[in-house]
Parts: sequence; structure tokens; C-alpha cells
Amino acid sequence: MAHWLIAGASRGIGLEAARQLSARGERVTASARSASGLSALKTAAPGAATLQFDVRDETAIRAAAAQVSDPIDVLIANAGAYGPQRQSSLDMDFEGALDLLSVNTFGPLRVVQAFLPLVKRSERPRIVMMSSRLGSMSLDGTSNVAYRVSKAGLNKIVQCLATDLEGEGVVVVAMHPGWVRTEMGGPNATLDVRDSVAGIIQVAESLTPADTRSYRDYRGEDIPW
Ligand SMILES: NC(=O)c1ccc[n+]([C@@H]2O[C@H](COP(=O)([O-])OP(=O)(O)OC[C@H]3O[C@@H](n4cnc5c(N)ncnc54)[C@H](OP(=O)(O)O)[C@@H]3O)[C@@H](O)[C@H]2O)c1
Repeated sequence: MAHWLIAGASRGIGLEAARQLSARGERVTASARSASGLSALKTAAPGAATLQFDVRDETAIRAAAAQVSDPIDVLIANAGAYGPQRQSSLDMDFEGALDLLSVNTFGPLRVVQAFLPLVKRSERPRIVMMSSRLGSMSLDGTSNVAYRVSKAGLNKIVQCLATDLEGEGVVVVAMHPGWVRTEMGGPNATLDVRDSVAGIIQVAESLTPADTRSYRDYRGEDIPW
């Protein structure tokens, strides 16, 4: 039985991951940032331990990490947002875009840095950063510029983190969950959240040190950076 930490588990992919892992008896610690999010989490995954923080709030994240004492085997930095309405290269809501960087790019890094001592104590430490295919520098398209930038930045953080932690055996990957029917993905998305999450869990379970610094989708297929 592994110990999984899921940051951002009030709904969507994070909530489903907490639900599936708890249902099969894994040890789960999961976070939400609001009382209603915590309540949804407790209903879906009654066995999970819960923490409360916003990924923009380093003090709150560190206080939450201080409440956990056991090693963490898999950290899934899942929390993410889509950003402001106006986010094209010709018309940008800059304040909203900067806030999105704090959530999507530096939020996962705040979480990793706060929980890293616990991750390093695992015998098989793995960190899964929830990215998106839209963060790939190789992908064409010009929609949602702030979101693309935030995930491209996260991908660079994954590369740096993986390199900096390689000597200590901590595996770090960027994950694309597919286009998933959640509040973010919308009703036209092609993938059911259960299938995406089942794939993400399978990929996370199979990760070895040879996989570090990779960018994979929920089926385990490589995505070009
Ligand atoms: N759905 C897709 O098709 C898709 C595709 C590619 C990548 N992704 C990525 O997958 C991850 C999960 O997406 P999803 O589809 O499950 O989205 P979602 O249904 O919109 O859920 C987003 C989750 O992130 C949390 N969150 C947002 N801002 C936060 C903050 N500042 N602090 C803490 N938690 C915060 C939300 O909490 P609240 O309930 O409190 O807002 C919620 O739990 C995201 O990183 C997203 O970018 C999704």
C-alpha cells in the first residue's frame, strides 16, 4: 500500500483520483482549498486524510505539510485553473495571467518544495505534475495563451526538478490527463474522468528512475516537449 498525496482534490481529476485510490485501499492524503471542497472530498473518499490550502499560499502549504508525518510515495500536483477570459496574444488580461502563473506554474512547485522532505523518505518516490498537452512547445494553435504559457513553464520546472532530484532517486514527470469531461474540460471533452484517472494511476504506479524527466499522457505515451 502506497501513500499518495493529491493536491487539488475538491472536484474533477483530483477528486476522482482520491476516490479511486481510497476505494482500493491505498493510503491517501488529499487537499482542497475551501470548506465545500473538503466536504466533497470527504464524501467521495471517506478514508482519505485531508488538508486545506490554496496553492498560491506558501505559508498555508507549509503548515499543511507540517501536519503529515509519514513518507509520501506519490505526490500528484493536480490543482490548476484555466485563467482569464481575455488571454490571446493580441488581447491579454495581464493581471489574470500572472495569477494563473501563480496557480499553474509555481503552485505545483510550492507544493513539491513543502512536501519534498516527506517524498524523499519514500523508498520509491515519484512526483507527477499535472501539465497539459497545451503546454507543449511543439503544438500549434493560438488559443488560451496564458494557459499554454503556464503549462509550458510548468514543463520547464519539471525538467529542472527532475535533474536536480535525479541523484536522490526522486522520479519527476509532467502528465497530460487527456481531454477530460470536468468543469475545466467541459461537456464536449472526449474522455470520462474515470478512464483518465485510471490511466494516470497506472502510469504513476509503473514509473521507475528511467522515466524521470518525461512528459507523458494518461496512457503512458510520450509527448514532445
Ligand atoms: N480537464 C482537462 O481536459 C484537462 C486537460 C489537460 C490538463 N488538465 C489539468 O488537470 C488538472 C485538473 O483539471 P480538472 O479538469 O480536474 O479541472 P477542474 O475540474 O476545474 O478542477 C480543478 C481543481 O484545481 C483546484 N484549484 C484551482 N485553483 C486552485 C488554487 N489556487 N489552489 C488550490 N486548488 C486549486 C480546484 O479547486 P476548487 O474547487 O477550490 O476551485 C479543483 O480541485 C489541472 O491542472 C488542469 O490544468 C485538465
